[in-house]
Amino acid sequence: MKILVTGGAGFIGSAVVRLAVARGHEVVNLDALTYAANLENVAGAARSNLYSFEQADIRDRAALDRIFATHNPDAVMHLAAESHVDRSIDGPGEFIQTNVTGTFNMLEAARAHWTRAGKPEAFRFHHISTDEVFGTLGETGKFTEETPYAPNSPYSASKAASDHLVRAWAETYGLPVVMTNCSNNYGPYHFPEKLIPVVILNALHGRPIPVYGKGENVRDWLYVEDHADALLLVVAKGKLGRSYNIGGENEAKNIDIVRTICALLDEMRPDGAPHDRLITYVTDRPGHDLRYAIDPSRIREELGWRPSVTLEEGLRRTVRWYLDNEAWWRPLLERAGVGQRLGTKA
Ligand SMILES: NC(=O)c1ccc[n+]([C@@H]2O[C@H](COP(=O)([O-])OP(=O)(O)OC[C@H]3O[C@@H](n4cnc5c(N)ncnc54)[C@H](O)[C@@H]3O)[C@@H](O)[C@H]2O)c1
Repeated sequence: MKILVTGGAGFIGSAVVRLAVARGHEVVNLDALTYAANLENVAGAARSNLYSFEQADIRDRAALDRIFATHNPDAVMHLAAESHVDRSIDGPGEFIQTNVTGTFNMLEAARAHWTRAGKPEAFRFHHISTDEVFGTLGETGKFTEETPYAPNSPYSASKAASDHLVRAWAETYGLPVVMTNCSNNYGPYHFPEKLIPVVILNALHGRPIPVYGKGENVRDWLYVEDHADALLLVVAKGKLGRSYNIGGENEAKNIDIVRTICALLDEMRPDGAPHDRLITYVTDRPGHDLRYAIDPSRIREELGWRPSVTLEEGLRRTVRWYLDNEAWWRPLLERAGVGQRLGTKA
């Protein structure tokens, strides 16, 4: 299969690119290379002749038309997005432009390409979204694919809008789409502004480890390589027009994640121990959803997929990876906004 992956220089997109190439798919990586991108994430895959790269912005429709015409993909996996909730609080405009207008452009470019090709049934537009579109849960319950949308942040609202566009393009124009909504990802190559890499790197530097509110927020953690595996399954075997929730079956409170990472660092880097002395509670994020949890029954029952990595194992691998890959993360600490408290301008 020849797959056009958008956002393939980002965290999840690069995991998809690496796995797709390893499995023998041709991959065209389309990425604007924003602050969140790093071509180092795909340096190994880029050595394969199955891989090609197009630097382009999904807000630029003409560029998208050119890329579809040049590469003639069998499928699109659309991951390009502005993805950091705190940045969406301070500057929502970029999120609307990229996540909503950019997805609209991708749908229109894909539709034009698919129509020109005679509307092949096998073509797929796979839209990758988040469980954050469902809003927040209380102490109990899980998100299913039927849970009503109730996004609470500019980021999740922009993703919800993009999901609705994808659904409408399937219903109105018959574009062959599949959709996925996943929980919080973690693992290697995670940009150092998100919780888990922030905890690891602050602890390594002996800096305060910021925990929002009381650290009681619960997330359902999904190892990024498991997610990439699920996404490649959905694009190949997912039922047309269907959406699938993808979770890690690993619910944990933020504070417990932070304490586990500190304990792993105490073991692997004992010179800084005990790392949990650095935990510092800070003002909560405005509109911070309390709990997300995925009911993964549909993808398990229809496609036979389950996560393979437990939270304990995944965190161990992730901490090890950051310890072994300073050359990857060190330059990223210089990028705009990294290491600063964002999302306070509400
Ligand atoms: N990280 C998570 O835990 C998570 C959870 C659920 C869903 N998602 C979704 O998965 C997708 C990927 O997330 P991620 O964490 O890898 O994000 P990321 O921020 O690490 O990467 C996003 C990539 O998209 C590119 N991009 C941004 N704007 C672009 C534009 N206008 N044109 C072209 N490329 C552009 C960036 O350069 C970057 O390489 C997103 O759609 C996100 O909403 C992420």
